[in-house]
Amino acid sequence: MLDWKTNSALAAGKGATVQQFVAIVGDHRLEAEIAPWGEGRLRINGRDIAHVDDAKDRRQAFRAIKAVAERYVETHMNKIAVPMLPAVKAKLLEGKKGLIVGIANDKSIAWGCAKAFRAFGAEVAVTYLNDKAKKFVEPLARGLEAPIFMPLDVSISGQMEAVFERVTKEWGKLDYLVHSIAFSPKEALQGRVVDVSREGFATTMDVSCWTFIRMAHLAEPLMKKGGTLFTMSYYGSQMVVKNYNIMGVAKAALECTVRYLAAELGPKGIRVHAISPGPLATRAASGIPEFDALLDKAKAKAPARSLVSIDDVGVATAFLAHDAARLITGETLYVDGGYHIMD
Ligand SMILES: NC(=O)c1ccc[n+]([C@@H]2O[C@H](COP(=O)([O-])OP(=O)(O)OC[C@H]3O[C@@H](n4cnc5c(N)ncnc54)[C@H](O)[C@@H]3O)[C@@H](O)[C@H]2O)c1
Repeated sequence: MLDWKTNSALAAGKGATVQQFVAIVGDHRLEAEIAPWGEGRLRINGRDIAHVDDAKDRRQAFRAIKAVAERYVETHMNKIAVPMLPAVKAKLLEGKKGLIVGIANDKSIAWGCAKAFRAFGAEVAVTYLNDKAKKFVEPLARGLEAPIFMPLDVSISGQMEAVFERVTKEWGKLDYLVHSIAFSPKEALQGRVVDVSREGFATTMDVSCWTFIRMAHLAEPLMKKGGTLFTMSYYGSQMVVKNYNIMGVAKAALECTVRYLAAELGPKGIRVHAISPGPLATRAASGIPEFDALLDKAKAKAPARSLVSIDDVGVATAFLAHDAARLITGETLYVDGGYHIMD
């Protein structure tokens, strides 16, 4: 239950027109504005999330807005120390073991994937970038009951190999891999593509693309009975998206890599996919200027008129890891509410 307090800066009680209530969850601010004629609005961190205009009075509008807010907190914020895994009855991925790279915190796309894979019964090995990141990732790994929890900074040589050695020792096989990392130095990411330095280009491509190739290389011998490799891409690989810059170039290379790896590894039953989610407010996204404008545009233009959540991405990814998807490979799957089909 959220703890709603009236905004004391505004007039309240009888005679007041619109009342405002505020609830704080962690560092998120939820605001409900309720009008006596049965209209209500929910804003989270200044962003419009929901609007109710058909309630019969103030009380009913507030009840509706409170219900939306609680659902939102449950599915999108999931913050409170012990992570919540969705309850899924059908353990469709039972017996599968996989490695998920890229959980920084509970907003990460990789975390959405980890929750979905675990909820469907798969085992999940988790890595964290470094000691600083460890305290955010550890409670999440605990919630997943991850039997392997190791540091992995792909720019430190030997760390990728160490993780795969541990997987070999612990499991002797791998059924799926989720590569959900990207990095570009600020001057490279925020500058024009035409100005990018050799080092900026090389680092962007190295972390965001080559590491997927190397992880596929290390996973191949562990996928003797087949498996699925995933990486995360974005629409900026196909179209020029304002502020996406050099990362668009890296994602284009990544999607092309997916096709070559799918062709090379397909005869061994190893499938390879890029998942292309719509914009999500994660740590990585905070490096992209005017990201809020991108979110607003995505919501307005997508046929679904809705932003995607990390859970939406997780479930779609988990589906492709299921044996039922065994003849789907080399795909770039958009999880974007249909945004990419619109002019
Ligand atoms: N957020 C979005 O809108 C969006 C949309 C489409 C695709 N993506 C992609 O999804 C993936 C995950 O990003 P996210 O949005 O969940 O953000 P995030 O910040 O939660 O995850 C990015 C991850 O990359 C990791 N990383 C960066 N450098 C690393 C290194 N040297 N070694 C190991 N790990 C490193 C970080 O530790 C972090 O866990 C990225 O590939 C991103 O480009 C994001």
